[in-house]
Amino acid sequence: MNMYPELVKRGIDFPGSKRCGDCHIDIYKEWADSMHAKSYVNEEFRVASNDYGYPFCMRCHVPESILTESNELMARDHNLEDGVDCQGCHLTSDCLLSGPHSGIGPHPLEENQPFYKDSRLCGTCHIDTYEEYLRYVDVDQKQTCQDCHMPAVRRKLIQDEPWQKIHRRKEGKAHTFSVLSAIENTEDFIELTFAEINKNNNHITGILEIVNTSVNHSIPTGSYGYREVLLLINLKDNLGRTIKSKHVSMFMELNTQLKPGEKKIYSFVFDLDDKSAELKELEAILFRTNFKRTNKILLAEIEFCIE
Ligand code: HEC
Ligand code: HEC
Ligand code: HEC
Ligand code: HEC
Ligand code: HEC
Repeated sequence: MNMYPELVKRGIDFPGSKRCGDCHIDIYKEWADSMHAKSYVNEEFRVASNDYGYPFCMRCHVPESILTESNELMARDHNLEDGVDCQGCHLTSDCLLSGPHSGIGPHPLEENQPFYKDSRLCGTCHIDTYEEYLRYVDVDQKQTCQDCHMPAVRRKLIQDEPWQKIHRRKEGKAHTFSVLSAIENTEDFIELTFAEINKNNNHITGILEIVNTSVNHSIPTGSYGYREVLLLINLKDNLGRTIKSKHVSMFMELNTQLKPGEKKIYSFVFDLDDKSAELKELEAILFRTNFKRTNKILLAEIEFCIE
């Protein structure tokens, strides 16, 4: 069926992803909150691309569609503020809307496409992360990018009335594409352990071990933007106040990221110059953070009592 030909048109005749949201209401809302919807308007991108001055950057940040015949990504020149939009992942070169299910829709469908369940789809743009993933993923560990970053949901694909009544629920995926949903979806993915803690009158020494146990790309990952993982080791007194603190930063650029399965070992020494403070515990906290450290996402934490 092709009741709304504009949905599968390229160029300025396409009314934009908001139109897809008239029927796919839930999916649209999730996508609109994701970084994909902001990949063009994002202030960091505007600045880094020299006010959109580098055409090379646009193919991933405002793609026409990843489903090209030549396998070359092309940038689009309309609806730029939609960033990585619905058509960008769903419009085929034959102007069908492609997806993992079978269904009957008011627009032309290309059904049952296994590509949507495959990490390769994400790898079209997340090239370096996908390469890491291929390098580290082991055979029985078959989780895909979608498994962790697009939480499973059982629901109808559309929510608009009255049409939603004639459709059944399906096993679908929330379009959150987010770090937070991956953190919620991935249990205990970082292991923190304090070892060899020693205390004397003058200092406390010890070792902190960190393992990325189950994310099969490095933490942080990606080759663009400012991505830092910040480790804090805090020494606290019996009132819960931090009296001493150590910071360690991890970056892709410096090859200090937490690679899958790798164990990192940090030794630390706290000099005890204020002898009157009553020590209570050591604490280690791992955040993913941005340049100004205004947005801290908690990745893992652990405490250790000092007698
Ligand atoms: C057409 C290119 C493209 C495809 C395909 C793509 N992404 Fe992205 N993705 C981007 C861009 C560009 C950004 C950066 C947006 C920004 O921060 O402005 C991004 C950002 C993200 C982020 C947010 C990272 C952060 O710092 O918060 C996650 C998570 C993500 N993508 C996951 C996925 C997953 C999972 C898939 C596959 C289902 C996927 N992406 C497919 C281009 C793409
Ligand atoms: C007028 C309502 C309507 C609009 C607007 C609409 N869709 Fe759909 N779409 C449907 C219906 C109905 C289905 C089938 C639902 C089912 O069978 O469960 C569907 C199915 C799909 C599927 C699933 C295909 C599969 O095999 O898994 C995709 C992908 C899709 N639409 C993408 C889009 C995109 C992208 C847009 C915007 C360009 C869009 N739709 C706009 C109603 C709509
Ligand atoms: C970055 C790529 C990407 C973008 C952008 C994207 N989708 Fe999807 N979409 C996917 C993937 C991957 C799946 C398959 C998930 C699965 O079921 O394994 C999917 C599945 C779907 C389905 C089938 C239902 C489901 O949950 O599996 C519909 C309908 C759909 N998308 C509509 C949209 C609409 C509407 C937009 C824009 C608001 C959109 N998509 C944006 C990647 C994308
Ligand atoms: C086993 C679950 C899992 C799988 C599989 C997975 N991720 Fe992640 N991903 C995470 C977790 C947890 C985080 C948050 C930790 C972090 O910030 O690196 C994350 C973070 C990210 C980020 C944000 C950048 C960053 O380092 O903060 C991007 C982008 C991303 N993943 C893309 C992908 C892509 C693309 C794939 C597939 C090639 C993928 N992920 C596979 C769990 C997973
Ligand atoms: C091959 C696809 C691709 C190309 C080309 C590309 N990017 Fe990106 N960009 C991404 C992806 C994917 C992300 C998400 C984070 C990551 O993986 O590094 C991203 C994220 C970013 C971010 C981080 C935004 C944030 O919110 O943290 C900035 C800034 C950025 N890109 C700038 C650029 C600039 C400038 C260019 C051109 C010189 C460019 N990108 C070209 C795929 C691409």
